[in-house]
Amino acid sequence: MSMREKIFAANWKMNKTVAETEAFFQEFVNYPGVGRGHGVIVFPPATSLAAVRGLVGAMPIRWGAQNMYSKDSGAFTGEISGPMIRELGCSHVLIGHSERREIFRETDEDIREKVKAAHKHGLIPMLCVGETLGERKGGQAADKVVRQLAAALQGVPASEAARTQFAYEPIWAIGTGLNASSADAQEMCGLVRKQLAQLYSGELASGVPVLYGGSVKPENIAEYMLQPDIDGALIGGASLQPSSFLSIIKNAMGSRFSAS
Ligand code: 13P
Repeated sequence: MSMREKIFAANWKMNKTVAETEAFFQEFVNYPGVGRGHGVIVFPPATSLAAVRGLVGAMPIRWGAQNMYSKDSGAFTGEISGPMIRELGCSHVLIGHSERREIFRETDEDIREKVKAAHKHGLIPMLCVGETLGERKGGQAADKVVRQLAAALQGVPASEAARTQFAYEPIWAIGTGLNASSADAQEMCGLVRKQLAQLYSGELASGVPVLYGGSVKPENIAEYMLQPDIDGALIGGASLQPSSFLSIIKNAMGSRFSAS
């Protein structure tokens, strides 16, 4: 297993009101050991970010927004900017999630601008890439991910790429219960690293976190953690209940999880 920090990130998507966010943390704070010796990041809806800041308290966990716009301020009705989420204590921001790309038609160019804006404001972008079922069946999964990475990182200097985190999320595995095999996930996370080595350097590629996402559950996390290029998971559905998110972290960390 690599020396890179293990990271467990909860993407709640468009779920949880502020009251529901409070209920989650009221239970979550009772779990000692969460965030100790590994990283935990929660991505709630933007409306819950201010509440999360207060609810996290002394727990060693970080939080981030699920999206941001690339401009700092102005006539962009409905959007939120880097300075706005930074002010709420966010360390991270998800960029290029497949639901943003597919449902909201974000382009590679939009995503590149967002990655740059995140860095400009000291936010760590967690850049998501992944192929559709059709692309996988057609043997185009690798090409798609390589292209997404190259497009999102064009003009991003090594100093910023080194502060970027990556999530491989095959679209056909998201919310479907059909998780990628650990071998396929390893192959694609390894490909992300190979591409980063080509774009930047081997040192950079081996230093950044690469997570797997797509129907991760307490029952399947352990097999991913055995893979050399997978540093953790970006979890949707199974992160909504505190007990199941905790089980994922525990099953991933095994004996290295200490509840004391
Ligand atoms: P699920 O874990 O619900 O499949 O969602 C994965 C995801 O999209 C996380 O960003």
